[in-house]
Amino acid sequence: MSGEPILTVRGLRCTIAGQQVVEDVSFDVPATGITAVLGRNGVGKTSTLRGILGLISRRGEVRLAGERIDGLPTHRIVRRGVGYVPEDREVFSKLTVAENLALAERQRTPRREFVAELFPDLVARRDQAAGTLSGGQQQMVSVARALLNDNRLLLVDEPTKGLAPKIVTEVADALEEASKTVPILLVEQNLEVVRRLADDAVVIAGGRVAHVGKAREILDDEDLTRRLLGVHVEHAQ
Ligand SMILES: Nc1ncnc2c1ncn2[C@@H]1O[C@H](COP(=O)(O)OP(=O)(O)OP(=O)(O)O)[C@@H](O)[C@H]1O
Ligand SMILES: [Mg+2]
Repeated sequence: MSGEPILTVRGLRCTIAGQQVVEDVSFDVPATGITAVLGRNGVGKTSTLRGILGLISRRGEVRLAGERIDGLPTHRIVRRGVGYVPEDREVFSKLTVAENLALAERQRTPRREFVAELFPDLVARRDQAAGTLSGGQQQMVSVARALLNDNRLLLVDEPTKGLAPKIVTEVADALEEASKTVPILLVEQNLEVVRRLADDAVVIAGGRVAHVGKAREILDDEDLTRRLLGVHVEHAQ
């Protein structure tokens, strides 16, 4: 890794309803490429993203391009250029695709052409109610919403969850293309997707960082993946 990280997280602790859900998380997100957040269910991956965004109560130090953001309210963090694609997509189901996208536009010149090129299927379905789209198409809407603005960092939570293999590939393609323009912190449980997309990875266990390193080295470590991810990785052909 060269250059300043876009995000540094030091000693992040988060609570939900008085319960500690993130214990002591520290890691860097490089200014380019995709950094994966890995870990079993319930270890605190989503809470880590929500803590960075100030959506849940947090302590510790978070810097975006060197500047502290851990004391800021969520709307100011978003305005500084942190985009969020939440778990379970969260599109407005009764609104059309075009309406969903229009509501996400934050700046005078949104990147509509870029998004249209990345998701031609959404252009074709612009007048369809988002709730009637397939899961994969809804995920595309969710990612497209974040890409309309010039973000400095995207936080993307389990974008391929519950999608058919072919659609997983399409979502991964879109994220790969997007990552050429914006660094991404990606929570992802599909390890083939991680292997394909991620440069670096942070493994979380029990609300703490258990390991950081190159994503491929982590995935190639059978003992580590079995212990911390609870899976036996089929080595990619
Ligand atoms: N609203 C809430 N109220 C109480 N506890 C919560 C709440 N949200 C999350 N938690 C708890 O916080 C811990 C971390 O949850 P989190 O959603 O961050 O995990 P995760 O790693 O994203 O899991 P998954 O892989 O299932 O998405 C879990 O023990 C969970 O039960
Ligand atoms: Mg989660």
